[in-house]
Amino acid sequence: MKFLLLAAASAVSLNTAAARPAPAAASASLATEDPQVLARADALLARMTIEEKVGQLAQLFKIPVLPSVDDKVRSGQVGSLLFITDPAEANRLQKIAMTEARLKIPLLFGFDVLHGLKTIFPVPLGMAASFDPDVAEQAQSVAAREARAVGIGWTFGPMIDVARDPRWGRMVEGAGEDPFLGAAMARAQVRGFQGPRLGTPGHVIAGPKHFAGYGASPGGRDYDSLFVSDAELYNVYLPPFAAAVDAGAGNVMSAYMDFNDVPASASPRLLTDILRGELGFKGWVVSDANAIHSQVKQHFAADAGDAAVRAMKAGNDMEMALLAPAFATLADSVKAGKLPVETVDRSVRRILAAKIAMGLFEKPYADEAEAKRVLADPAHRATAERAAERSLVLLRNEGGLLPLAPGAHKKVAVIGPMADSPDDTVGPWAFVYDRDETVTLFEGVRDRLGRGASVQTAAGVQLARSFPSGLEMFQPPPPAWTAERRATEFQQAVKLAGDSDLIVLALGEARNQSGERASASDLRLPGEQIKLFEAVAATGKPFVVVLMNGRPLDLTGIVDRAPAILEGWYPGTRGGTALARALFGDINPGGKLPVTWPRSAGQVPIFYAHNRSQAPETQAQRYYDQPSSPLFAFGHGLSYTSFRIDTPVLDTPELKPAGRLTVSTTITNTGARAGDEVVQLYIHQRAGRASRPVRELRGFQRVTLAAGESRKISFTLDEASVKYWHSEERAWVIDPGTFDLWVGTDAKADLTTTFVVGGAPRTVAAR
Ligand code: NOJ
Repeated sequence: MKFLLLAAASAVSLNTAAARPAPAAASASLATEDPQVLARADALLARMTIEEKVGQLAQLFKIPVLPSVDDKVRSGQVGSLLFITDPAEANRLQKIAMTEARLKIPLLFGFDVLHGLKTIFPVPLGMAASFDPDVAEQAQSVAAREARAVGIGWTFGPMIDVARDPRWGRMVEGAGEDPFLGAAMARAQVRGFQGPRLGTPGHVIAGPKHFAGYGASPGGRDYDSLFVSDAELYNVYLPPFAAAVDAGAGNVMSAYMDFNDVPASASPRLLTDILRGELGFKGWVVSDANAIHSQVKQHFAADAGDAAVRAMKAGNDMEMALLAPAFATLADSVKAGKLPVETVDRSVRRILAAKIAMGLFEKPYADEAEAKRVLADPAHRATAERAAERSLVLLRNEGGLLPLAPGAHKKVAVIGPMADSPDDTVGPWAFVYDRDETVTLFEGVRDRLGRGASVQTAAGVQLARSFPSGLEMFQPPPPAWTAERRATEFQQAVKLAGDSDLIVLALGEARNQSGERASASDLRLPGEQIKLFEAVAATGKPFVVVLMNGRPLDLTGIVDRAPAILEGWYPGTRGGTALARALFGDINPGGKLPVTWPRSAGQVPIFYAHNRSQAPETQAQRYYDQPSSPLFAFGHGLSYTSFRIDTPVLDTPELKPAGRLTVSTTITNTGARAGDEVVQLYIHQRAGRASRPVRELRGFQRVTLAAGESRKISFTLDEASVKYWHSEERAWVIDPGTFDLWVGTDAKADLTTTFVVGGAPRTVAAR
C-alpha cells in the first residue's frame, strides 16, 4: 500500500500524490450537474403539488418511541427517513412509497454510519491516528457496502469538525485538531463512502458534517453558541469541508448551534456564500436534528414558520426532525408569498437528483438475502482488524517492557472496565454492531496466548455518567451496580491482580462518556479507575495500561508510574485482536496522536499550531503551577524499533510563484524489528502580513521499514502550502520571505532548514 501524501496541500485544496486517482471535481461527480438526471428531476417536479414538494424536504426519524410514519410516507409528506437498519423494514416502507404514494418517489434512507454498521472500525479519531488516509478510505468503503446492502443510501458522515478542546465529547468523531490531517481524512472518507462518483454501486452518499465550526464549542460544552473569527474559520475549520466538497460529497449537514450569533442552519453566509459560493458545493444541505425548529428555542426565529422560511432562504434544503417539522409550514408560506416557490423547487430538484443518481427509482429495494451475505463477509472483519492495528498509538514504553513475550507469563489478568466490554470496545455511534464478532481485549489476549497461559478478567469498577444524556434510548447503558456489587467487584479485581504474573489494565471512558452530549469538565479517568490503578500498581506485579477513550485524558499519577501505555481509542469489532497482537509484538504500533495531549483540563484548549508570542522562550512556562507544555505532542507515538531521519534536503532554496519545491530525506529503521514511522513535515512563516502559527503540518507519510531498511522519501511544497486567509485583506494571500521547515516524528521535530518564498506579496485564488 502507498501512504504517500504530498505536502503540497493547502489549507483548502489538498493535493495528493500521483499514485492516487485525481480527486473528482465536485461538479463532475455530482448528480445535480448531470443534464439527464436534471431533466428527469425537472419532469417530476413539474408534476408535484407544493405539498408533495415540501414532503421531499422532510427527513424524519423512524424509531420505536415515535409515532408511525407510514401515513406520512403514503401521503408524500416525507422524502427521507433515518435510523432504519433492518432491510425488511426499509423495504416495507419503501413499498408504501413506491406503490401507494401518488408520485411513487422512493424514500432515501439515511443513518449515522460513522465508523461502520455491523462491522465496526476504530472511531474516527483513532482512524486519524493511523495517519493513513488509505486505511480510512478502505474502512469507510466497507461501511458503505454494509449500509447499502441493508437499504441505507446516505450516511451522515464523515464528521470533519476540527476539534481542539478534548472536553468536547465529539472530538471522538473527527480527525482531531489539525486542518491538514483533517482535510486528508475528510477526502479519504468521502471517497470511501461514496466511491468515485455518487451512485457507485455498493456505496452511499457522504454527508460531511457539521457545517461549520461546531468543534469550537466554548468550554467543550456541546451545543453552546460559539464565536469563530474569520481567520480561524478559513484557516482551521473550513479546510476539511473544502476537501470533502472537492472529493464530491453529495450532501452536507448544517450545524445546530449559533455561529457568531446566527444559527448555522440559518446562516446565508455559511450555507450559501461560503459553502456554495466559495467551496463550490453542488449537493443538498440537510439540517442537523431539529436544527430548524430549534431556531425558535434559540430565540432567533419568531416561530416555526419564520424558522423554516429563513432556513430555506439561507440555503438549507432538507430538515431532519424528530417531531413537528418546521418545514411543514412551508406550503402555507409559499401560498402566502413569504417564500418563492422557486426556492422550494431548487431544493427539491437537488434531492430528486440525488435519488435519481443513486438509482433508487430503478432499484428502490434492498435485497435481503444479499444483505445477509454482505454482512457476513469475513473480509470486512479483516479490514476492521487492520484498521484497528494501524490506529494504535504507543504512548509510553519505559525500559522496553512492550512487546511482551508470549509464554513468559503463565497467569495473565486483563483488568478494568474496558477489559471485556463489547460496547466499550466499539465505542459511540455503533448502534447495531455485531456483538458476536466483537473481540474484547480480554478475548484478544486469551485467544492470542491460547493454551500457553491462563487468562482471566475482572472489570473492577463500573463507569457511569453523573447525568444521563437523553440519548440513552439509542444506546442503553448497563444497569448500575449496587454499592455491594461495587465493593465485591473491586476486591475481586485486586485479588486477581495479586494472583497474576502480568496485568493488562484496561482503562478509559465508557462509550456514553464520549460522543454527543458527553462534554467533560474533568479529563481525569472517570469513576474509580485511579483507585483501581493504585491498587493494581501496589501489587508490585508487572503491568501495562491499555486505554480506550475518545479524547486525551489527564494521566496525572498514571503516566509516570505505568511503564507502558498503549492507546487503543475505541478500536472496533476486532479491537481486542489488534491490541493483543500489538501487546505481544505480532505487530508494531505505528499510529500517532492526531491531537495534542494536555497534562490536565486546565491546559485546554491546547494545540501545536498556535502563534508565536513575544516571549517564545517561556512558552513552556505559562502556568506557575505546572509546565505549560503538553504531556504528549501532536504527532507523538513510539515504536518497538527506532528510526533515524536524515536532515532534509531541498531541490531548490526558493519556492517561486506557481513553482514547486521538493523536500527529501532518508529514513532508516535502526532497530531490530520491522516497524512504521510517520514522517511529518512542518513549516513556519517568519514574517509577513499576519503572524502565523509556530508550525503547521504540510505533509506526512507513513512508511513501513524492515529492520535496517532505509527509504528516501520526498514531499512537495507549492503555493498552496504557504497561502493563508488574511482577516484584514479578507483574501487568501501569500507573503514572500523566509520559512522554517522541520521534518521529524512529531510536532517537536527538530531537523530543520529554511526556504524562501519568492515573488511579491500577493492574493491568490481559494483553489
Ligand atoms: C444529531 C447529531 O448531531 C448528528 O451528527 C447526527 O447525524 C444526527 N443527530 C442524526 O443522528
